[in-house]
Amino acid sequence: MNFFEAVKNRTSYRGKFESAPVPKEDLIEIMEAGCDAPSGCNMQTTSFIAIDDPQLMSQLLGLVNPPIAGTAKAAIAVLTERVFAYRDKCFAVQDYSAAIQNMLLAAVALGYQSCWYEGHITDDDNIGRKMADVLGVPQNIDLVCFMPIGKGVDEPKRAKKKPFGERAWFNGYKK
Ligand SMILES: Cc1cc2nc3c(=O)[nH]c(=O)nc-3n(C[C@H](O)[C@H](O)[C@H](O)COP(=O)(O)O)c2cc1C
Repeated sequence: MNFFEAVKNRTSYRGKFESAPVPKEDLIEIMEAGCDAPSGCNMQTTSFIAIDDPQLMSQLLGLVNPPIAGTAKAAIAVLTERVFAYRDKCFAVQDYSAAIQNMLLAAVALGYQSCWYEGHITDDDNIGRKMADVLGVPQNIDLVCFMPIGKGVDEPKRAKKKPFGERAWFNGYKK
């Protein structure tokens, strides 16, 4: 699959996953794509934990309410360290966003489905911190996104995008 096919095929997948385990090599390749992302001042504030242990997966998924990805056999947790890149500028959000997008595209290129679950786990109920504690993540590092990884069973639902002409122009703002 070429890059543009991966971009077009990526959707937020919230359906069921195949029961086969996800090979470690594929999870490594996806995390490598995350490591290859740009970061402000090359601070590389994002790190990753792949989860493929069945008991650990169900322990983590059990923390999420409303539930997500109940049938997923693997996932990648995205961690961020909110440090200043220069002066008082912290680019941690941009850094982990770039890493997540790289990983979503890598997952699609390898034939997997995923979803960027951030809202679900970063609300006041602090599920991200609870997951981080289970995974032994130090207190100064936040778990900001949980990405199930697996082959989808269901037909992905495509989100409706605004027409191109409402969002992109040449030589000036044209809305
Ligand atoms: C910052 C961010 C947080 C998100 N958090 C969640 C979430 O908690 N739960 C969820 O189901 N989808 C989440 N999504 C996925 C969006 O809902 C999805 O990208 C959007 O609806 C567009 O659909 P598409 O990804 O299929 O193009 C998140 C996406 C982003 C970029």
